[in-house]
Amino acid sequence: MEHLAVIMDGNGRWAEKRHLPRLMGHRAGAEALDRCMHYCKDAGIKYLTVYAFSTENWKRSEEEVSGLMKLLSGFIHSKEKTLVKERVRFRVIGRRGDLSEKLQAEIADLEARTADGDFTLIVALSYGGRDEIVRAAMKFKGGSEEDFAKCLDTAGLPDPDLIIRTSGEQRTSNFLLWQSAYSEYYFTETLWPDFDRAEFDKALESYAKRERRMGGRLKK
Ligand code: IPE
Ligand code: IPE
Ligand code: MG
Repeated sequence: MEHLAVIMDGNGRWAEKRHLPRLMGHRAGAEALDRCMHYCKDAGIKYLTVYAFSTENWKRSEEEVSGLMKLLSGFIHSKEKTLVKERVRFRVIGRRGDLSEKLQAEIADLEARTADGDFTLIVALSYGGRDEIVRAAMKFKGGSEEDFAKCLDTAGLPDPDLIIRTSGEQRTSNFLLWQSAYSEYYFTETLWPDFDRAEFDKALESYAKRERRMGGRLKK
């Protein structure tokens, strides 16, 4: 598998179960992301895309939104050195113009500093699949599916092979609508902050048993 994508869901419920503020769940979620990146590298996966904030997540309370934005900025600052050292290429997809100018500058800086990394971490921020398609359509001058894909935020990236969603929800919530045409899905009840190596291995084992026909014939 080359590209794994994750809908990191369940941070809020993880915190609520512990009578903690939701933001503590998001903090634990950021640590789970850190661990997941290492599982991917160990497994030889080259691209990890994570859904961190959707175009719909702006509907949440001011407190939760600003807390998430702070967490993100903190993640960028605290991880900068490690990402450079570990040769992780950082990339953001989504409506980055919706973010504060400061955060946009921090993101652009980290993207530039990690441009030559060989493992790619793609963070979907203020991201919605429909929004991405509409923006791409505005740039598109006609042509093939491949030409259209070049207008998407994910230009140059392979489509995800497997999409994991945690916390028991079984829907895409507007994630990678175009790119997931032939992705496999894996759903687990585990809440994102509890997602550990055993869960990761289970998802990869399940993926290994799938037969991806991509519309072709069943192999004999
Ligand atoms: C996912 O966790 C992270 C974001 C959407 C930012 P949630 O915050 O959706 O957690 P639940 O679904 O309420 O448990
Ligand atoms: C999807 O989770 C977005 C992220 C994980 C960032 P949500 O919790 O926002 O999705 P719904 O509301 O359950 O569909
Ligand atoms: Mg949720």
